Amino acid sequence: MNIIVKLRRQTSRDSQPSYQTFEIEADPDRTTVLDVLIRIQSEQDGSIGFRRNCRNAICGSCAMRINGRSGLACQKHVSEVMGDRDEELVIEPMQNLPVIKDLIVDMTKFWNNLQKVDPYVSTASRQISKTEFLQTPAQRAKLQAAANCILCGSCYSECNAAAVSDRFVGPHALAKAYRVMADNRDDRTEARTEQYNQAGFVWDCTRCYNCNEVCPVEVQPLDRISQIKHEILDNHDLPESTAQRHRHTMVELVKEDGWIDESKFGVRVVGDNFRDIQGLLSIFPLGIRMVLSGKMPYPWQFQKSEGATEVKALIEAIASAKDKAN
Ligand code: SF4
Ligand code: SF4
Ligand code: FES
Repeated sequence: MNIIVKLRRQTSRDSQPSYQTFEIEADPDRTTVLDVLIRIQSEQDGSIGFRRNCRNAICGSCAMRINGRSGLACQKHVSEVMGDRDEELVIEPMQNLPVIKDLIVDMTKFWNNLQKVDPYVSTASRQISKTEFLQTPAQRAKLQAAANCILCGSCYSECNAAAVSDRFVGPHALAKAYRVMADNRDDRTEARTEQYNQAGFVWDCTRCYNCNEVCPVEVQPLDRISQIKHEILDNHDLPESTAQRHRHTMVELVKEDGWIDESKFGVRVVGDNFRDIQGLLSIFPLGIRMVLSGKMPYPWQFQKSEGATEVKALIEAIASAKDKAN
């Protein structure tokens, strides 16, 4: 098959990108995207830049965007990424990280963000035994998925939260955070729970699901983020953060009225029911901007959701059945 390859080229960090088209003859079922790049580099243009090492989905070096989705070039066969065989094979560098040359990105931010979660089993625990620190199969199974991460960057490249927020550490870092948190040899669970509850960690994720979709080794970072959130929500010793209050308020409002009445939301979440005056003042400028641009909704404009009465009745019935069962 004749494969048309559209490659995004960029000579340096500050230069403008452009697309260059190549053609190669190959069997799409037996040729990976990395094979295509290696052939183009050796047969047509030796100047194209890309990273690779193991060619076996182990080292994580060859992550790039292939027809609009990040993944490992050595893992994807051409037939898999070109549904319609008349399509072009578009190869681009990962997003959310600056390009150094062609498909090579500067991963400094990715590594720095990983460091922010303290991605090591705590040193105190390493000193407790002179012999091996054995884990049971069940203890090991808890961290299996997260431990699979090969730090390729595909999830970070597709992350919507990382695209808009400089402070968000990213799905790779949070998957690693869960990996150490779930390790029974780590003795910093309390401190980690507190840290990951701060801004820039789990609550900044928009749950877009992209990281789960693109991860080549089934780490499913969003699921790991949810596990950390559960640890935080189950820890009643932590002072309640705005993010936690957001969750609790949603549940409370549905229990009270059968729907989420957003007119009560801001005061309860940001203002902690008028207990957090600083919090309330922080949304004041936003309120002013909304009034000035005619976008401030008034309490009477919020429409009760259809079926709210039934939802409320259902919740009450379940609560009463639980009480009886206890
Ligand atoms: S979580 Fe998956 S996609 Fe993200 S860096 Fe690790 S291996 Fe790559
Ligand atoms: S689910 Fe969260 S962490 Fe994963 S890609 Fe989306 S915003 Fe990023
Ligand atoms: S070359 Fe190692 S993961 Fe692709």
